[in-house]
Amino acid sequence: MENNSFPYQIEDLPQEQAEHLMKYLKGELTGFVRVGPKGYFFPHKYKNEAADIYNMPLRPSDIFISSYPRSGTTWTQELVWMVANNLDYAKSNEIPLTERYPFLEFCMCVHPVMAERFKAENSGSERKLKLLELVTQRGTAQLATTPSPRFVKTHLPMSLLPPTLLDTCRIVYVARDPRDVIVSFYHLNRLMRTQGYVGDLKTFFNFFIKDLHHWTPYFEHLKEAWNLRHHPRMLFLFYEELAKDLPAAVRRVAKFLNKNYSDEEVTRLCDHLSIENFKNNKSVNYDVMKELGISVSGEQSFIRKGKAGGWRDHFDEEMTLQAEQWIAENLRDTDLRFPHLEN
Ligand code: A3P
Repeated sequence: MENNSFPYQIEDLPQEQAEHLMKYLKGELTGFVRVGPKGYFFPHKYKNEAADIYNMPLRPSDIFISSYPRSGTTWTQELVWMVANNLDYAKSNEIPLTERYPFLEFCMCVHPVMAERFKAENSGSERKLKLLELVTQRGTAQLATTPSPRFVKTHLPMSLLPPTLLDTCRIVYVARDPRDVIVSFYHLNRLMRTQGYVGDLKTFFNFFIKDLHHWTPYFEHLKEAWNLRHHPRMLFLFYEELAKDLPAAVRRVAKFLNKNYSDEEVTRLCDHLSIENFKNNKSVNYDVMKELGISVSGEQSFIRKGKAGGWRDHFDEEMTLQAEQWIAENLRDTDLRFPHLEN
């Protein structure tokens, strides 16, 4: 029999607050929830997924990539997949990242009304309907039939993943300066119709630091993984570390996965992973979301600037100060430090 226990309370966000947020997040039409003592924030459909994710059967060969959104997940996914799969460029090219890595909880972001809309819009093509089914189906169901070794993408914090995860399989967590995350997530929330964000950056910023965006509170998310960073089955990376010295990051991942590659192989992989190549690589650039109409068409893309510190071009003085205080407050009770912010 399925184990359906889930240790945390899931509470609906008060109706008035939810309605206010839904004026900005047009892709959600029912409401939101907060989960457990840390109050993780999700769309209401998380309720349907929580227990199945928490109790999902794991396999020793599973590799999870976890992060707060826009922290370099896609970059890390391709890096890890390539390192784990003996640098199989042909296969990486042939099978899109979305198929190589089921996104564990993405279905919670697809409101039933939006799901019907996407289906209707793609009804002229069997191929597109199949693709749509693939990217919007329940991650746990998809993973149950995925052959080993499985690669899993998730933005869930450690506490909402199966509690035996680190006893069983491996996880690579990637973190990024939250100011860059905010700018990047703002663009993504405008891009994805599942989110349908219609406000400006400043409003988005204020929701974010009040833990009113999917998968926040941001710092709780990071700290949960940070506190497990010495576990032999956990590798904790920073986006800024990849940006500064990608070959060194590749070597860290290789060591973690017990692989050994020559300098030439590492150089070639770093070239494959460069932002320029990523933008044009259909296997990793999420253009499939545009093709299916899940993201809006136009200039913006899932792979964007790929720069560390780009937030400076977008924050006004007030936001810069607010962010500084917010970061300082949240780092006070922890030894979590962003390497690029250390002197
Ligand atoms: P920006 O929006 O700041 O450009 P995620 O994959 O977690 O959603 O993170 C997306 C962020 O990583 C985006 O940041 C994206 O441009 C950046 N990114 C994706 N691929 C990259 C690469 N190969 N090199 C550097 N940054 C990359």
